[in-house]
Order: sequence, then C-alpha cells, then structure tokens
Amino acid sequence: MSLLVFIDTIALCLVVSSALLQRFEEAAKADGSLSFLVIGDWGRKGAYNQSEVAFQMGVVGEQLKIDFVISTGDNFYDSGLTGIDDPGFDESFTKIYTSSSLQKQWYSVLGNHDYRGDVEAQLSPVLTNHDGRWLCLRSFIVNAEVAEFFFVDTTPFVDKYFTEPGDHVYDWRGIRPRKTYVSNLLKEVDLALQESNAKWKIVVGHHTIRSAGLHGDTDELVKQLLPILQANNIDLFINGHDHCLQHISSIDSAIQFFTSGGGSKAWKGVVNWRNPEEMKFYYDGQGFMSVQVTETDIDIVFYDVFGHVLHKWNTSKQPHRAW
Ligand SMILES: *[C@@H]1O[C@H](CO)[C@@H](O)[C@H](O)[C@H]1NC(C)=O
Ligand SMILES: *[C@@H]1O[C@H](CO)[C@@H](O)[C@H](O)[C@H]1NC(C)=O
Repeated sequence: MSLLVFIDTIALCLVVSSALLQRFEEAAKADGSLSFLVIGDWGRKGAYNQSEVAFQMGVVGEQLKIDFVISTGDNFYDSGLTGIDDPGFDESFTKIYTSSSLQKQWYSVLGNHDYRGDVEAQLSPVLTNHDGRWLCLRSFIVNAEVAEFFFVDTTPFVDKYFTEPGDHVYDWRGIRPRKTYVSNLLKEVDLALQESNAKWKIVVGHHTIRSAGLHGDTDELVKQLLPILQANNIDLFINGHDHCLQHISSIDSAIQFFTSGGGSKAWKGVVNWRNPEEMKFYYDGQGFMSVQVTETDIDIVFYDVFGHVLHKWNTSKQPHRAW
C-alpha cells in the first residue's frame, strides 16, 4: 500500500516537472550556423514606429537569412489579447511583420502586459493555426544544435504584480499556487541547463536582470534566477521590458545581458548609467537586435528605426580539442 502511494508520488512529480518545459528542435543552416532577430515590447497596431521597425527587420532578416525571430514579450498592448478572436492579433502581428524574410517561426514569451489580458489566448494553438509563425508558451526550450535556448516565464516572479496590482487585473490562471510554480520552474531550468551539451546557452525572458532603464534590475530575478544562470555558465541573457536597447556585461561572470525592448513605444528619457566596466551600450529609442551564432563565434548587432547599426559585439570560444 505505502509502496503504491510512493510510486504514485514519483509518477506525479515526473508529470509535473516534464510538463513545464516543452522542447522544440530548430534545424541550423547546412554549415551549422544560425541567425535570428530579437524584438520586444511591440504590439501597438503599427504605432510608435512599430511598422518602421518591422520594415527594417525585414531588410536585415533578408541580409542575414534569418532562421527565426524571438519575441521577448509584451506582445500586445495595453492588455494582451481579449481572446483568440481579438483582431489585435492581426493588427499588431500578422499585418505588421509582412516582409518575406520574417515569414519564419517566431518564438515568444509573455510579458506583464500580456498577463493583463486573456493569457491563455496567446498560448492557444488556434492562433498558430491562424498564423503559422506564432508560437508562444510560458516556458520552453529550443534546441538549435549549436545553441540551446531556454525561455523563462518571468512575470510570475515579480512580487508587485501580486501585492500592488493597482487598477490592473492579471490573469493568473495556471500560475497558482505561485510559490510552487516559481520553484518548479527554477528547478526545471536549472536541470535543463545542467543537462545541456550545447556550445552556447542562451536564456530569454521578458523582465530585466541587469538594466540601466526605467525599470532597472528585477530584484526577484537577480536573487532567484541569476545564481542558476551563473552556476551553469550561460552565455547570454536576453530580455525586453525596458523600452530600449542595451548591452551590459558582468564583472563577476561571462554572462552578457541584452535588452531588446524597442519594438514600439520608446524614448522614456530615463537612464541610470552603471559601472562603465559593465555598461557597454544604451539606446533609448526604437530598434531591434540580430544574433549570428557559429560553433566558434557569436555576433550581435543593434539597429535603429532606419536600419542604422548602433552597436556591435562579438565573442569567440575555441573549438573543442580532439584529445
Ligand atoms: C520614430 O523614430 C524617430 C527616429 O528615431 C524619432 O525621431 C521619433 O520620435 C519616433 N516616433 C515615436 C512616436 O517614438
Ligand atoms: C569583434 O569585435 C572586435 C572589437 O571588439 C573587432 O575588432 C572585430 O572586428 C570583431 N569581429 C567581427 C567578426 O565582427
């Protein structure tokens, strides 16, 4: 009897943990390289330069022959989607990112504004049937051979959305009990990072870990997620949330922090410049980021609304020795 209960408990744990992080495979190019764009904080029916950014994404996407696009969340303003039939999906996504180079898989996470609508609408396969590019999940993994991507649902970490929601109503279906949700997610991400054999490990979330922008660092992520990312030697953390483009490095690890949150409304006029050893780049306006990955190199470029290059960064890792 007690053995049966024991076995049941194990089975339940397995189901709960493996249900959290769905895995997807993304084939790299024939030479093993990979290229993609990153955009965040965008869905405003074309306004605030969203359409101009979309156009330049199309141009750069063509040049780099991108394999996919990553969205760092706050996909639909002001309050996510009202349901699977919300015309905002077409008006802010399908009819905006129309360039042929952008007709690729989009991997999206949810932002805090997305949680203010019908959160399950964005996760629904109905939207994927409607526009085959769309894939949004709370947390998931994309294995692209040379690089592995770990998408993390960061909104449930942030205390103030629960303790001081103000006039905002958040859709916390699927999140409660919150402590269990967050601790299971952290365990899963830790385990998946430990098990990863990928040359490059890239973690994506909506909220900042390091930011010189309006929102600054997200304390909950600094305390709970960052130690896991450091212990597993990830290469890049990519986020949105602050409506800007920025690059911050670390003095105490090799992790580089990139914010691509310039998909539409920007120009907040707030920058709290950090330690110059860490602060590599900050741009308060609209734009997006490109990433090219090979077995030995990562190349990152930020672009503005005209497609002009604002900042470039690259890093190398020696190939594994044969002995
Ligand atoms: C659109 O971009 C241009 C060029 O950066 C900028 O001058 C303008 O203020 C932007 N418009 C809005 C609404 O942010
Ligand atoms: C990488 O960055 C350095 C400067 O940091 C630059 O000199 C070099 O040309 C860059 N390499 C590539 C391939 O972009």
